[in-house]
Amino acid sequence: MNTNHQLQETLSKSEILFSKLWGISVDGMRLTDGNGTIVMVNDAYCRIVELDKEELLNRPFTVVYHQSEQKRVLETYRRDVINNEIKTHFERENTLWNEKKRWLEFSNTFLDLTGEGKYTLSIIKDITERKKAELELADSAQKYRMLFNNANDAVFVTQLSKLKLYGDFIEVNEVACKKLGYTKDEFLKLSPSAIISPKFIDEFNKQTERLLTNSHVIYELVHKAKDSKHIPVEISSHLFTYEGKPTVLSIARDITERKRVEEKLRKTGLRLRNLASHLQTIREEERTAIAREIHDELGQVLTVLKIQITLLSNKLRDDQQELKDKIISISNMIDDTVEKVQRITAKLRPYILDELGLIPAIEWQAQEFQSVTGIKCSFTLPNFELFLDSEKSTAIFRIFQEALTNIARHSKAKLISISIHLKAETLMLIVKDNGIGIAQEQTKDFKSLGIIGMKERALILGGEVTVEGIPGKGTEVRVEIPLNNN
Ligand SMILES: Nc1ncnc2c1ncn2[C@@H]1O[C@H](COP(=O)(O)OP(=O)(O)OP(=O)(O)O)[C@@H](O)[C@H]1O
Ligand SMILES: [Mg+2]
Repeated sequence: MNTNHQLQETLSKSEILFSKLWGISVDGMRLTDGNGTIVMVNDAYCRIVELDKEELLNRPFTVVYHQSEQKRVLETYRRDVINNEIKTHFERENTLWNEKKRWLEFSNTFLDLTGEGKYTLSIIKDITERKKAELELADSAQKYRMLFNNANDAVFVTQLSKLKLYGDFIEVNEVACKKLGYTKDEFLKLSPSAIISPKFIDEFNKQTERLLTNSHVIYELVHKAKDSKHIPVEISSHLFTYEGKPTVLSIARDITERKRVEEKLRKTGLRLRNLASHLQTIREEERTAIAREIHDELGQVLTVLKIQITLLSNKLRDDQQELKDKIISISNMIDDTVEKVQRITAKLRPYILDELGLIPAIEWQAQEFQSVTGIKCSFTLPNFELFLDSEKSTAIFRIFQEALTNIARHSKAKLISISIHLKAETLMLIVKDNGIGIAQEQTKDFKSLGIIGMKERALILGGEVTVEGIPGKGTEVRVEIPLNNN
C-alpha cells in the first residue's frame, strides 16, 4: 500500500513540476495531436506567435502562420506523423498570421501514447535576432572574403608566437597564391621567411621589430616565389590582436613595373648627365681652341701690323705731320684691338687658368669682376699650390664665374668674400655675398639653369654645390669637390 501511495505522490509531484516548468519556461512549448490540433501551449509560445491561448487551443497549429503557408505546413506535418518522420530539430523562417517574419527553432519530441494516439511536443525558440546577426555576420564575412580575394595585391595574415621566430601564416588571399606559385594549403604550411629572398631577411627582421613598436610599417622587400623568381614588392604591415595573439596583416604590392621605370629613369638620368658632361667638355675644348687661334693668328697679325706701322712712321719726313698723326692713331687702334682680343680670348678661356692654375685664375677673375661691378672682393686663399686636373679646375672656375654673375645680377651685394681651403681631401670653395639673400625655393627652381648647371658640374666630379641664403644677410655658395679620383 505504502508504495502505491508513494507512487501517487511522486506522480502528482512530477505533474506539479511539469506544469511549473511549462509555465515559467522562456521557450515556447506546444503539444499537438496527430492531426496537428493544438492540445496545450504555454505563455511563452503565445508571446512568440502573438496570439492568446483561446485563439490557439483546439485549432490546427498552423493558425499561427500566414494563410499562404497554412495548408502546406499542415499537410507536411500530417504526412510526417503517418510516416513517423517528424523532424526532431530544425530552424525555419515563417511568416506569422500577422505577416511578421520570424525565425523559429523547433525541437520536437514524438510521443506515441498507447490508446491515446500520436502527439508531438515542440519546444520553440524565437531566434530571429540571433539569425539576423548571423546572417549579417555571414554577409560581412563574405564581403570581407571577397575584398580579401579580389584585392589586386597579395595579402597575408601571420600570427606571431614566442616559439617561432616568424610565426605562422593563418590566411593568404588568392593573389598571394598566384603570385608566389603556391596552392593555399602549401602556403599555409610555409614559414613566412620562406617567401623572402635570402638577401632581404635582415631587412624583414628589422621591419618586424619596428612593427612591434610602431604598429604600422611600409617598406620594400623582394619576395621569392616557388619557382625562385624574385618579385620586388612594397609591403604595408599592420599589427593587431586576434584571438589574443599579436597578428600581422601584410599587403604586398608588386612593384616590378615601378622598379623597372625607376631603373630606366636612373639610366636615362645618367645618360643625360654623361651627355651634358661630354657637351661641357667639347664646349670647353672648343673655347680653348678658338681662344688659342684668335690669340695666335690675330695676335701675330696685329703684332706684325704694329711693327710695320712703326717702321712706316719712321720713314716719314718731318713735314709729313698729318700722316704721322694718322699713323699714331692707327697704332693706338692696333693697341686697342690687341687688348680687345685679349679680353675676348680671356672670356672664352682664361689663359691664366691653363698657365697658372685655378687660384690665380680665381683671383684674376675676381679682380676683373670688382673693376667692372664695383663690388669689393676679399680673399682667403691657401698659401700652397693646388694640383688639379684641367677638368676639375675648369669646372670649379666655371662654377665660380656663375656665382659671380648671379651676385652681379641678383644680389645687390657690396662685398664678397671668397675662400678656398682643403678639408680631408676635399676642395672647398666658398663664395659669400652680403646681398639680399637667395630664397629657399629659388635654389630649387627648375626653370633657372645657372644653379642647376653649377650643381651638375660638381656632381659629375663626385662633389656638390649648395646654395643657401639668409634674407637681408646674403647668400653663400659652397662648392665641394673631392680631390682623389674615386
Ligand atoms: N647671390 C644671389 N643673391 C640673391 N639671389 C640670387 C643669388 N643667386 C641666385 N639668386 C636667385 O636665384 C635665382 C636662380 O639663379 P640661377 O643662376 O639658377 O638663374 P638665373 O641667374 O636667374 O638665370 P641663368 O639661368 O641665366 O643663370 C635667380 O633668378 C635669383 O633670383
Ligand atoms: Mg644665374
